[in-house]
Amino acid sequence: MSDLTVSDQIDNVLHETRVIAPPEAFAAQARVSRERYDELYRRSLGDPDGFWADVAGELDWTTPWRQVLDWQPPHARWFVGAETNIAHNALDRNVARGLGDKRAIVWEGEDGEVRTFTYSQLLAEVKKAANALTALGVQAGDRVTLYMPLVPEAAIAMLACARVGAVHSVVFGGFSVSALADRLNDAQSKVLITADAGQRRGGLVNLKANADEAAKNAPTLEKMLVVCRANCDAPMQPGRDVWWRDALAAADAEHEAAALDSEHPLFILYTSGSTGKPKGVLHTTGGYMVGTYLTTQTVFDLRDDDVYWCTADVGWVTGHSYSVYGPLLNGATVVMYEGAPNHPDWGRFWDVIQKHRVTILYTAPTAIRSFMRQGDDLPGRYDLSSLRLLGSVGEPINPEAWMWYARVIGGNRCPVVDTWWQTETGAIMLTTLPGAHPSKPGSAGLPMFGVEPAIMTHAGTELGPDEGGLLVIKRPWPSMFRTVYGDDERYRRSYWEEIPGVYFAGDGARRDADGYVTVIGRVDDVLNVSGHRLGTMEIESALVAHPSVAEAAVVGRPDEVKGESVVAFVLPQVGYEVDPVALRAHVSREIGALARPDAILIADALPKTRSGKIMRRFLRQLAAGKEIQGDTSTLEDPGVLERLAATPFV
Ligand code: WTA
Repeated sequence: MSDLTVSDQIDNVLHETRVIAPPEAFAAQARVSRERYDELYRRSLGDPDGFWADVAGELDWTTPWRQVLDWQPPHARWFVGAETNIAHNALDRNVARGLGDKRAIVWEGEDGEVRTFTYSQLLAEVKKAANALTALGVQAGDRVTLYMPLVPEAAIAMLACARVGAVHSVVFGGFSVSALADRLNDAQSKVLITADAGQRRGGLVNLKANADEAAKNAPTLEKMLVVCRANCDAPMQPGRDVWWRDALAAADAEHEAAALDSEHPLFILYTSGSTGKPKGVLHTTGGYMVGTYLTTQTVFDLRDDDVYWCTADVGWVTGHSYSVYGPLLNGATVVMYEGAPNHPDWGRFWDVIQKHRVTILYTAPTAIRSFMRQGDDLPGRYDLSSLRLLGSVGEPINPEAWMWYARVIGGNRCPVVDTWWQTETGAIMLTTLPGAHPSKPGSAGLPMFGVEPAIMTHAGTELGPDEGGLLVIKRPWPSMFRTVYGDDERYRRSYWEEIPGVYFAGDGARRDADGYVTVIGRVDDVLNVSGHRLGTMEIESALVAHPSVAEAAVVGRPDEVKGESVVAFVLPQVGYEVDPVALRAHVSREIGALARPDAILIADALPKTRSGKIMRRFLRQLAAGKEIQGDTSTLEDPGVLERLAATPFV
């Protein structure tokens, strides 16, 4: 835990009182009405086995479960004894129910190229990819790492892994060589699927070159499958590297999805925690499938003719649950866009919506704030009338951005759902249901089915309405992660023992008298930069790995667009000078550009207690340009704050 108290943050919460009723036309036809939500929510807590069995019963299982939930705290098994396959449910099942000719993926490249896959076509590709993986020696349980641009092959590769029971670990294409190597090694991956390059802002990101570098330090890696996205001229290592299209061309067209135990691991996704290196969040098959299926259907009020676009990259959990698994399980048409939101200009998202007649848009507050800065004119030049529902995810959305999103993008006709969840929760946990619930801008809202949240003190005392505290979840839910890959002790300690008996989310929050939960932000040393989680420790270790740095402390500072930005305080190594340009480049190399400090302060000392603990609270105040507040008497060197305040950031 950091020394940032929840009450510090609560003071910053906007005193927001607006309540926005669901647009009438939408409410009149909503999939879930307010009464229905109440009834279903009550049942999901009162009769969870019956509730979840009914939802799961809408999907295909090759062997039925003996028991819905086996809860041996903190370990849960859902749909015990059952066998299924999530790729079968996303593809074969939808083809079997007549959706074969429906568009599954409509992909647009940054260069404007469009590729469309119907459910039948997507199934055919996934079958071939599954056979190709098998031909490369991949077996159920093996780990396969993906390091890819946002191209249809990324989704195809994920589904192909799921089809054969291989555990995918997607590493965001913006991560560095060493971040990739760490993740390959932690997962002990056998195969890496990558592309020659990805397109970003008109340029190329040479993923294959990074993959080759990382592979040098990844001894478990046997094969590399390479998608051609750019020029197909990447150097290939004989015996190890295979072009994706050659592998698929040689693969058999028929493939039967493996019947996998409900608890068979589906994927690992690395995310930042407050201590140590990123942790591998492990999700399994049955519960994750049921959770993403239900939440996509109800939160996005999905209809047969929707064109659904979640802008997240598959490198993040939102891309897993709401660009791939959730919508495909529901037979939806999914839009994928490869590139940057500002290429060729800030109208690109609106262009994609106009061109593909997108009806549901799910994006992040950081993007919304960037668009807001460009003014209302730009979106006004596009036809956004196809939109009927808007979603937000990844960080708290400030009420002004919420209102702008609803008015300028949603034309006051689209409900906005602010969805709170985490890599660990697998699926949306808190939100309003569109058409059922009024919105309170800035507040995520009510619990999804089966979710029992509470606000507690660190000592485990439950708090009442409007009292700020720690967000916890009081019972297991199907899409919860099962462990930290290879470190079950960390799973117990970080999530279930912080406050014994409940799931500790790491977020500060309060709940009002109507039950709406407002999530304020992390209470641990995790930053949320443009909706991406970064551990301060991770960045600090990257900084001290540079020869010029003796010691480093990283904090976040509020940023109008990114939500938070990275600020580093560094102590130079004796005999060295810190070059901020070189240091930023170094952090990009160690982690990725997203972790690069916005501001660096070269310090002669850090504010420490006599026991040597860095008092980050003061660093946060300095970073934000605020007056120093709080008890400074425990500082070992009382003059340090004054000296730091007089030093400019570089
Ligand atoms: C934050 C992303 C406020 C929160 C799905 C959480 C949010 C972390 C919201 C998880 C929201 C996510 N309102 N905060 N609607 N959604 N967060 O694992 O701090 O990348 O703990 O999952 O993002 O980030 P992650």
